[in-house]
Order: sequence, then C-alpha cells, then structure tokens
Amino acid sequence: MLNVAVIGMGGIGNTHAGVYQGSERANLAAVCDLDRERADAAGQQFGVPAFYSIAELVDAVELDAVSVATAGPENGGHHYEPVMECFEAGLHVLCEKPISNEIEKAREMAAKADETGLYFGINLNHRFVPPAAKAKQWVEEGRLGDLLLMNMTMWIGNPNETSPWFHIRALHPHSLDIMRYFCGDVKRVHAFFNRAPGRVCYSNVQVNLEFECGVVGHLTGSYDTNPRHNLERCEVMGTGGRFVLDNLYQELTLYPRQSDELTVVRNSIMGGLSGFAATFTNRINRWIEQVDEGAPRDEIEASGREGLAVQEIIEAAIRSHHSGRAEAVPAS
Ligand SMILES: NC(=O)c1ccc[n+]([C@@H]2O[C@H](COP(=O)([O-])OP(=O)(O)OC[C@H]3O[C@@H](n4cnc5c(N)ncnc54)[C@H](O)[C@@H]3O)[C@@H](O)[C@H]2O)c1
Repeated sequence: MLNVAVIGMGGIGNTHAGVYQGSERANLAAVCDLDRERADAAGQQFGVPAFYSIAELVDAVELDAVSVATAGPENGGHHYEPVMECFEAGLHVLCEKPISNEIEKAREMAAKADETGLYFGINLNHRFVPPAAKAKQWVEEGRLGDLLLMNMTMWIGNPNETSPWFHIRALHPHSLDIMRYFCGDVKRVHAFFNRAPGRVCYSNVQVNLEFECGVVGHLTGSYDTNPRHNLERCEVMGTGGRFVLDNLYQELTLYPRQSDELTVVRNSIMGGLSGFAATFTNRINRWIEQVDEGAPRDEIEASGREGLAVQEIIEAAIRSHHSGRAEAVPAS
C-alpha cells in the first residue's frame, strides 16, 4: 500500500486524487496547493488534510510517492521545482506532461531521478489503453513484419495563447510518446509550422521523423480542430501489413498485406473504456502497481526518461523550423 499526496489541485490534480482514492493499493493521505482555496476545497472533497506548501506537506505526512499536477507556462513551467523538492524529500514522483517546457530543466529532472534512485513517471496517459497494448502485441508477434512507416495525427481545439511553442510543447508529448511506443527512439526530424489567423502560437505542425530502427514517420498536429470528431489516429505499416488505431481506443484494425480479411477490435459498450478520463485511471493505476511492487526502474512505463525523450524531439522540431533543415535528436 502506497501513501500518496497530490500537489497542484486544478482539474487534473483532482483527477489524480480521485484515482488514488479509488485504488486498493494506494492511500490518498493529503493534497497540496499554493492556492489555499483550491487546497482546502480538494481536502474537503477527498476528506484528507490540505497543505499550502510542499515543505509543510513532507514535514507533516509520511509519504511514499506524489503526483505533481502543477501547470505554468506552456503547461509545464511549474513542474521543475516541486518535482526536485519531492526527489530531495525521497519521494517517488508521477509528474504531469510535459515533464518541463524547458529542456535543460527536463534533463536535470531525469538526472535527479537517476541520482536518487527514485521512480519517476510522466502522465503520458494516451498509450494506456487496451487496443494500444493489442497493437503492440501484433507488432511483437511479427504480424506487421519489419516496420517501415508510421503516421500519427493528434488534434484538438485549444484557443489559449501562451507562447509561439505552446501547441507543440504542451500537446505533442502525447503523440510523440505513442510514436515512440511503437517505433522506438527518433534520430532526426524535419518540421514545418504555421499559425491560424490571429494566433500567437504555431497552432499547426507537420513533422517528418526518422527513427533509429529505420522507420520513417509523420506527425500532423493542430490546436485548431474539434476533438469531438476525432482526437487522434495512429497507423503503423510493415512488410506484412499495417494497423490503424483510430481515435485513441475506439477502433483498432489490422490490414494484412496478403489477405483481404481484416481484424477489427472495437471498444465495447460492455466494459470498454467509458471515455478519455479512463486513460488517467489506467495510467495512474499502472504507476501505483509498478511502484508498489518495486518494479526495476528501467521498466517503469512512460518514465521520466521517456518524458524527456519526447521533449528532445519537440526541441529538435523547433530547431528545424529555425534552420529549415532536418535536425538530430539528442539521446535521452
Ligand atoms: N495528461 C493529460 O491528458 C492532461 C490533460 C490536461 C492537462 N494536463 C496537464 O495537467 C497539468 C495541470 O493542469 P490543470 O489544468 O489542472 O492546471 P491548473 O493551472 O488548473 O492547476 C495547477 C495548480 O497547481 C498549483 N501549483 C503551482 N505550483 C505549485 C507548487 N509549487 N506547489 C503546490 N501547488 C502548486 C496552482 O496553484 C494550481 O492550482 C498541466 O501540466 C497540464 O499539461 C494533462
């Protein structure tokens, strides 16, 4: 049983707290927010003590792990300090994405986790759905043959403006994590961006990616669409066929190269995923399970290092915009 607290009680912190409270392997012991009203409201809702600083929290409560669900510039600018403070206090950390919007800080965070030997996970929740696991199984069983090509689309409507790079830094940790989940590390990227009329942020992007394994991939991203129509689509093709995972978990189809017969896996209305919120439940429960059973650090799914890897791709894409050339992605 893990004793946990949630730091940052916005909508997402409250979602984390609800998952911990529903888990048989975790005990939600406290909540924390610099904003007293938010901390108190969450404390009341979950029936746990509320704290207004991490120093007070770690002094008063015996904890094993925390969720850091702060936000900040580009939705990640406030993660660094609480994460480092919690590592200093000897706590395992599940941090919201992006690990940080500043790459130097993201590198320091991943290094600090390694130095302390603590677990570090990132809430890259989109991959924690049964059809993604099924598609991965098809890849591992060789049903696609040798992998060759991948296409990924992730698009939502987000009118917020914080900086030119808000869209790619805040949203595309998710899409790039799915791409890495199936095809591994990325070697080089070449990216083109544009802005919808009147926007400050580059709200549309097209990225070509070359993976270490030789796969060539493409990412389409946007903050100018309606995700109720379709949030994301992932397609992986190999010498033996391809799969399409449509809309995160709604429908997975295998198209074998040598046959006209398709295999289709639909999200069932009887016990399938009930909505996007279920991705948080699945991801956080997997984190609890791995930390509680003492999994080897390098087996932590959607780890801090993987959170860093996607930010390295994002920064290389931004460099490519400036240089007009394909840019190398540093190893994480
Ligand atoms: N994984 C997903 O699918 C998903 C979806 C949406 C948002 N997010 C991420 O969730 C995070 C939180 O989003 P939100 O909308 O709930 O943000 P929010 O701004 O509503 O809430 C963040 C809270 O953190 C508090 N805070 C900031 N620094 C703090 C500190 N040092 N100690 C204690 N509290 C502190 C703020 O006072 C605020 O109440 C963001 O990083 C965002 O990118 C993830």
